[in-house]
Amino acid sequence: MDNFTFYSPTYFDFGKGSESHAPQLIQRFGGSRVLLHYGGGSIKKSGLYDRVTGSLKKAGLFFVELGGVKPNPRSGLVYEGIELCKKNNIDFILAVGGGSTIDSAKAIAAGSVYDGDFMDFYKGRAVIEKALAVGTILTIAAAGSEGSPNTVITHEETQMKKGTKSDCLRPRFSILNPELTCTLPPYQTAAGATDIMVHVCERYFSNTKEVEITDRLCEAILKTMIYETPRVLEEPDNYEARANIMWAGMLAHNNVCGAGREQDWASHHMEHELSALYDVTHGAGLAVITPLWMRYVLDKNPDKLVSFAVRVWNIDLNAENPKETALMGIEAFERFLKRIGMPSSFEEIGAKKEDIALMTEKLLGNKKTEGNYVKLTEEDLVKIYESAVK
Ligand code: NZQ
Ligand code: ZN
Repeated sequence: MDNFTFYSPTYFDFGKGSESHAPQLIQRFGGSRVLLHYGGGSIKKSGLYDRVTGSLKKAGLFFVELGGVKPNPRSGLVYEGIELCKKNNIDFILAVGGGSTIDSAKAIAAGSVYDGDFMDFYKGRAVIEKALAVGTILTIAAAGSEGSPNTVITHEETQMKKGTKSDCLRPRFSILNPELTCTLPPYQTAAGATDIMVHVCERYFSNTKEVEITDRLCEAILKTMIYETPRVLEEPDNYEARANIMWAGMLAHNNVCGAGREQDWASHHMEHELSALYDVTHGAGLAVITPLWMRYVLDKNPDKLVSFAVRVWNIDLNAENPKETALMGIEAFERFLKRIGMPSSFEEIGAKKEDIALMTEKLLGNKKTEGNYVKLTEEDLVKIYESAVK
């Protein structure tokens, strides 16, 4: 196992009705002047907006609001949020929504106490050292931003979708009420489940040896998702299934499964280029890329793919031909993604073959390779993208 540090200070309040605790939690973590940040309207439709604003008013907390975060959140709204925070002396941002709203809130939190352009953080020109406090009420199990130090923003003018991270961006608290996810359309539920599984895969596919504890944690989350996702698609109001998925989403990405091991992240970075150009739902883009990445790296580094097949998908090991076992694991993953309604090709997500060179160039920037499980060159990346053109 590699040396590591692990700092995960978020206070989680999990369960039915937990959103009513938001005002107390804001005060407990030092907030008095709040920016309420949310997305495109699902929280108004579900009645959550009325409950949250009602409870903030009842507690006598000052708040201003900024809605309109779009999936794959954009820089334009972040600039607006920073202005609003500065003008109103905001000291706490309450993000109510999914990964996009939380990531936008984290960007505003960092940008509000920074003299330069907040995009410096995403362009690698500055490091986030301080930020306003952020709390979340999560409405979709997917990105894991409720427990992660990460934020991903799309710069509209350049169509660059880039991430950055800092421990000071980890939410002070996250309210996780699985009931709030029951209103999700099936496609969003499935895309969220795919994202959760791929967050685990990015950590599972590692060259670090003797990491049994994190291997087993990863396998437990993957098996849970394989069991619970079809169940929740059949029974959208199944609280227990929603609850298991919601906690799996947090565990998949707060790095408890990735501590002490090399991680990959090629699939994510390849997907971010797709969502930057075509505004693809992140999990759907991953459903296209990740199995193709697995197929591509199979010849070069099969070991972990064999474990994935045997331990996660219950494929019998063919000791004479372990690659065949690994391939059966990839096929099982592909069948699962199809069953839950996820795409598998460029065509299904509106991506274009002629943009492959541009995406590869944007992805690599000054780097020579991408990923770690197998270090992928420009040529490799092009081949993986091309294999999505059916
Ligand atoms: O905007 P509203 O109206 O709320 O609708 C949203 C949105 O259309 C809807 N939705 C959310 N909760 C709902 C609901 N609809 C009905 N009922 C509910 N309870 O779902 C849609 C997707 O929401 P979004 O926030 O975009 O989803 P997700 O959580 O998947 O976030 C995706 C973003 O997170 C980034 C992705 O790249 C993408 O930009 N990621 C962030 C990470 C992080 N910060 O750690 C890691 C991830 O790998 C990922 O890259
Ligand atoms: Zn993701």
